[in-house]
Amino acid sequence: MSITTEAELAGMRKISKCVALVLKAMREHCKPGMTTLELDEFGGNILTEMGAKSAPKLTYGFPGYTCISVNNAVAHGMPSADVVLQDGDLINIDVSAELNGFWGDNGGSFVLGEDQNDHQKLVEASKEILKLAISQIRGGVKIADIGKLIETQAAKRGFTVIKNLAGHGIGYSLHEEPHDILNCYDRFNTTRFRKNSVVAIETFISTKSTIANTSDDNWTLVGNKGGYVAQHEHTIMVTSAEPVILTEANGIWD
Ligand code: CO
Ligand code: CO
Repeated sequence: MSITTEAELAGMRKISKCVALVLKAMREHCKPGMTTLELDEFGGNILTEMGAKSAPKLTYGFPGYTCISVNNAVAHGMPSADVVLQDGDLINIDVSAELNGFWGDNGGSFVLGEDQNDHQKLVEASKEILKLAISQIRGGVKIADIGKLIETQAAKRGFTVIKNLAGHGIGYSLHEEPHDILNCYDRFNTTRFRKNSVVAIETFISTKSTIANTSDDNWTLVGNKGGYVAQHEHTIMVTSAEPVILTEANGIWD
């Protein structure tokens, strides 16, 4: 969406803060022994208390309030009573929701407890790269150039990027134009970021894989070459200077 009124800005600020606080609360609530279904219900209850509705449920009929992807799951992890969280797990929580017709989206990967499986380096890379990418976005910047920056920064740290998942426009629905804010350079994409538009910027940094494929449960995505993926996502408003980070309250950079 392109923000043209104070009411639109207020609506976007409200839902963005809401998804940010749910993401933060879920991350803090997470502990070994808990199932991803329990964690999802915890987050779903907060969304409901705030009057917000789960975006993946509304948009895609997703069987959960939030996406929780553990270890080899890249994204869209389906909350399950069979997935019991363990110390050292790489966990990604993605929370997106609708409130009063406005939609917000954010996510973050983290290591649960002690980093016994050496995932922290990947997590830090993803955080740093998202921060850098967002700092470069403003009206007039080519979307492909941000993709190039993400890909280059990942390679510099010895990582790959997932090429078939992308950030996206957001506002009046979960996924809007532009649909292809990739983590890699696409020379055919000449689109530029536009001032006052709202977009969700998300990294998909991997230890090995380059493509995410749907697994047997028809929801959870896994990497084509295995390994691990870290994702961090903010909903931002593009300006003529540095963007306004609408989901800042999620604390994924803290
Ligand atoms: Co998301
Ligand atoms: Co998104």
